[in-house]
Amino acid sequence: MRGKNIIIGICGGIAAYKTPQLVRLLKKRGANVKVALTEGGARFVSELALATVSEEPVYGRIFPPLGTEKMDFTRHISLGEWADALVIAPATANTLARLSAGLCDDMLSALFITLRPDKPVLIFPAMDGQMFLSPSVQRNIATLAAQGCMVINPESGELASGQCGVGRMPEPEAILAILEECLHSAKASSPLFGKTVVVTAGPTREKIDGVRFISNYSSGKMGFAIARAAAKRGAIVKLIAGPVHLSSPPDVERLDVESTAEMYAAAEGFFDSCDLFIGAAAVSDYRPASPCKGKMKKDDEQIELTLIKNPDILAAFGLQKSPCQLAIGFALETQNGLDNARKKLAEKNLDLIAFNFFDHKTSGFNVDTNILTLIESDGKTTELPLLTKDGAAEKLLDAIEQLCLKNAIKP
Ligand code: C5P
Repeated sequence: MRGKNIIIGICGGIAAYKTPQLVRLLKKRGANVKVALTEGGARFVSELALATVSEEPVYGRIFPPLGTEKMDFTRHISLGEWADALVIAPATANTLARLSAGLCDDMLSALFITLRPDKPVLIFPAMDGQMFLSPSVQRNIATLAAQGCMVINPESGELASGQCGVGRMPEPEAILAILEECLHSAKASSPLFGKTVVVTAGPTREKIDGVRFISNYSSGKMGFAIARAAAKRGAIVKLIAGPVHLSSPPDVERLDVESTAEMYAAAEGFFDSCDLFIGAAAVSDYRPASPCKGKMKKDDEQIELTLIKNPDILAAFGLQKSPCQLAIGFALETQNGLDNARKKLAEKNLDLIAFNFFDHKTSGFNVDTNILTLIESDGKTTELPLLTKDGAAEKLLDAIEQLCLKNAIKP
């Protein structure tokens, strides 16, 4: 923590009485600490105590009363620039609502708005259990989380009301440990840190009969490389894999499926909760209409197989995603590549599509290298050179990180 500039935002909850201890712990670790105290916070903990332990003035109002202090009408901006991280503890329902709505009527809410999107904001809601679980508080938390804030759920235990339940602010030592981990981990600087990323990978198999299936040559290598790279950047990765011969990347939750229907069901379970959906699977477009149970006999000279269309998993997500979610797809094309990829980007309502040049040897199925062209929904097109699939995944995630930052500041 040595030399780190930390702003502690303190709101009007009973847990505010613990915050001078948090400031002391941070100071002992060598951090520079400034406090932004809301009006409610000042009812629970004294400005004098916080100024004494932080060795700094405490910031409350956005405008000082005329003539009483040196006038500085841009203090909220300089504080935002100074901070390496903002910790809001305790965060009340009122402040969560004000922050999620973008109000800036005191120093805490104003400096929150001026913070650059890559600076970590850790929010520790603390309040009565019923309040915490209320739809409005949960909606405001979701909005802030979608903007990239790390919202740490309160602990369960005895509450100020005398009841037991969820709502307690973690102890100052625990808050310090979470902040340290966040600042020290290289991952934390990635906009993907803490985001839930669903990746589909590999082929699907569609049963013709009990022993035969329709599939394709996909190895799953591209999707697995993406999952590995996303986990390295601190994302919570759910990898939905068709039948492949690959071992799971570290720190990734893997769900194995076989058919498109199974892949769809597994993916659908994450549609509402994920931040990003990356469809890298080579999904079978069709499946046999009525697969035989046992093994088909070869008595006939010619047979006909009726195929019916499979659901499009990525399109289903793309067309129902919320403004805070991102949908990323792949387009493996053998002709009119870029035009077809752009058409898919629009039809599936994607934020980015990776056009996959297909040449059997260096790019496409079952090889370790790839040539991608990234096309974004605003038309921005980036041609990547021949790269390993791991290298291509890193470049793709760099582009996705930029989209996350743009998305976080979307109106
Ligand atoms: O339309 P096409 O199959 O070429 O689109 C490719 C993209 O859509 C890939 O990202 C693939 O994972 C996804 N897809 C899907 N479900 C399907 C077909 C394709 O998620 N049924």
